[in-house]
Amino acid sequence: MKVPFVDLRAMHEEIRPEIEAAFKDVFDRSSFVGGPYVETFEKDFAAYCGVLQVVTCASGTDAVKLALMASGVRSGDAVITASHTFIATVEAITLIGAHPIFIEIDADTYHLSPAALEEFIVTKCRLGADGHWVDGTSGRSVTAVLPVHLYGLMADMQPILEVARKYNLTVVEDCAQAHGATYVLDGNKIKAGSAGRAGAFSFYPGKNLGAMGEGGAVATQDEMAAQRMRLWRDHGSSQKYVHVSPDGWNGRLDTLQCAILDIKLKKLDEWNGRRRQVAKWYQERLAGNEKIIPPAVPAGREHIYHLYVVRVPDRERVMKEFGVRNIACGLHYPIPLHLQTAYRELGYCKGDFPVTEKVAETILSLPMFPHMTEEMVDFVCSELVKIVDEGEKARLH
Ligand SMILES: Cc1ncc(COP(=O)(O)O)c(C=O)c1O
Repeated sequence: MKVPFVDLRAMHEEIRPEIEAAFKDVFDRSSFVGGPYVETFEKDFAAYCGVLQVVTCASGTDAVKLALMASGVRSGDAVITASHTFIATVEAITLIGAHPIFIEIDADTYHLSPAALEEFIVTKCRLGADGHWVDGTSGRSVTAVLPVHLYGLMADMQPILEVARKYNLTVVEDCAQAHGATYVLDGNKIKAGSAGRAGAFSFYPGKNLGAMGEGGAVATQDEMAAQRMRLWRDHGSSQKYVHVSPDGWNGRLDTLQCAILDIKLKKLDEWNGRRRQVAKWYQERLAGNEKIIPPAVPAGREHIYHLYVVRVPDRERVMKEFGVRNIACGLHYPIPLHLQTAYRELGYCKGDFPVTEKVAETILSLPMFPHMTEEMVDFVCSELVKIVDEGEKARLH
């Protein structure tokens, strides 16, 4: 048996007639930027996320950038995030001239730790004259925190929001991997993108809600913020050739992608449900092996399993053996950002975040997609258990 990491074709085959009709309609209209498809998708996705506004844009990276800008983060500010994420989270910070600060992650969920957030402010910052906390090392105002809902599970938003309120930080969510993930906040179940000031989504094809190309969007309850983002994504223009902001660029999402995304949005809950079923099969089959650590799902959160990430001993050997058995797998992410050459100038070094570093060395993403069959999960699990057990026996001899 051959098990791919994802299978986008199976998803698209299910909705081929609708997608082809949308292609034909956009082709016939020959209107490829803006228009009713963009407006309809923005409205529908806003309703889905439980927010007042969604602003589509060219990519998830642009979405994080727009979300930070619209939330008032300015060039020179410092933004706190985790080093265990995709680089785009941090690119968005540096692209607007802000300064990233990394903190440790939670050992169970691998998300930015609310305790580490408070500890950082208390031990490393002092209160500035303008009411913002100032990072003692860089001398910059710490104005925002950027939790990432990694792998499809929302970060622990209740304590993050409480710490943020206490220390005057704006909360921007990176929801690139969490379309439809939920969290119980103040007793109410809310969706990713509606907890902070703004939430940034990616529609990269492999995401739970993916375009047939690049795409992104920002969700927000703030009408003014949405207005500003609409300007920035369109060359800072309020109307054609009238430019009212110098901070714009071409960050629009095209008509065809919005038409496709609106069709796929209607399938999102069903496909997320199928991912949850796949995760349940994994959980049941791996439960007996204490060497394989499954993903944690704390009470009050619904995981949408963008990725199914376990931790295993001797990962490199497991990957090699998977290759021999035609089982695809991935690493999200093998090198924490604080140890990347790109961020050498930030001055971090090995040992700064032991939990992050340990997690990066042991994680392994198993195949996960809505159309994955129970037989595939059986095969992956039985081979994984065999490989891990053999490794353990060899180690003991
Ligand atoms: C956590 C995270 N943030 C941001 C992004 C950026 O999205 P995009 O690739 O659409 O620019 C991604 C995409 O992979 C991501 O996983």
